[in-house]
Amino acid sequence: MSITAKGDKWCNIAISGTTELFDNEGLETKTSKEQDKVEKSIERLFNLFYKKAEIDPEEPLLLRDVHLHFLKQHLCHLPTGYECLDASRPWLCYWITHSLVMLNYSIDKEQSGHIATFLARCQNEDGGFGGGPGQMSHLAPTYAAVNTLCSLGTPEAYNVIDREKLKQYLRTVRQPNGAFCMHVGGEVDVRGVYCALSVSLLTNIYSEDLFTNSAEWIILCQTYEGGFSGVPGMEAHGGYAFCAIAALSLLRKVHLCDVRLLLRWAVNRQMRYEGGFQGRTNKLVDGCYSFWQGGMFPIIQGIICMQESTTVEVDQWLFNSEALQQYILVCCQHPSGGLIDKPSKARDIYHTCYTLSGLAVAQNLPSGRCAVLGSTYNLLEPVHPLYNIGLTRVQRAQDFFQQLPVPL
Ligand code: FPP
Ligand code: ZN
Repeated sequence: MSITAKGDKWCNIAISGTTELFDNEGLETKTSKEQDKVEKSIERLFNLFYKKAEIDPEEPLLLRDVHLHFLKQHLCHLPTGYECLDASRPWLCYWITHSLVMLNYSIDKEQSGHIATFLARCQNEDGGFGGGPGQMSHLAPTYAAVNTLCSLGTPEAYNVIDREKLKQYLRTVRQPNGAFCMHVGGEVDVRGVYCALSVSLLTNIYSEDLFTNSAEWIILCQTYEGGFSGVPGMEAHGGYAFCAIAALSLLRKVHLCDVRLLLRWAVNRQMRYEGGFQGRTNKLVDGCYSFWQGGMFPIIQGIICMQESTTVEVDQWLFNSEALQQYILVCCQHPSGGLIDKPSKARDIYHTCYTLSGLAVAQNLPSGRCAVLGSTYNLLEPVHPLYNIGLTRVQRAQDFFQQLPVPL
């Protein structure tokens, strides 16, 4: 797609026609009005972009340097608005580190050492990581810390993880039915089993007994729509659906779920006009779902390929990759760096990380071939869809940890 051939005319635009605008079928509601408002703000940006693209084949351009500047600045100093994330500090490390990796920035030894030392202070005696030094262990910051350390990719970073204790910690949050609670005495949802599996497989502490019945429990979360909810009986949501299908795939138990129904649900979460994804039915587009929803396609398509024993790989995504890239590049870039949920929203490192992750998925096709909308300079490092860290970082971490014995 680098620039797509349409007839004999080269085009760098995924045109969104007015026929794709939301049809409220004559009944205006609170949500239909919100949807109209978003579409209007996007229409303005698309029209500006179409004009620019007519004369500049490099459009849309990823503002790589300003995003790098934004991320490096946040690595040293966070604005006061991040105070509310004081219990999510390993997440802040992950969102920044992973974004830098995707942008092909090499974090120097000193910075990498600072991050690893800080995360070492977040690891507790019980083997889990807390949201900050002295905070109780929790599966979400544990996942974020392990992903960060693997993204750093140095032996110094890997050695922060006390694998024996980490495994013991996972045993304390496992439930008899195969689900995991987020912390001792905490809530149970599908994030738990995904986080536990992800850290286990990256650091080679996985053993089957830790995940007995986990797949069967996850299946209970697939809803009538086809997506997955956080716990059985609730509403399907992109964040939980990603955790569920990634976990089933890591468990090699995808055959237990209805993959076709999940695919149907996931493709319908891509917004007809905006090109980005919504998290759930009848809600608004948001840049972060570029990964939570978009990141499911490599997993789903891998499963379908395997189930149908297709030897000829379909070398395209089953969502509209061009439209997603256009939404991200035209509507989600803050001109001073960082990416956003949707026009008029503030930039933040969570949306920077997941919007870039979705862009990386959209650009890197199943075969490994690239399909970049706009300038070829926009191309990001490919990500591993099951862990959402750089593809090469997964390999490097697994090579390192596989030399070590699996703890009991
Ligand atoms: C709804 O937000 C969001 C949720 C109910 C949960 C989202 C879950 C994740 C993003 C997955 C987390 C994954 C890990 C690995 C910890 P909302 O109602 O504000 O947004 P919406 O209107 O877009 O649904
Ligand atoms: Zn979001």
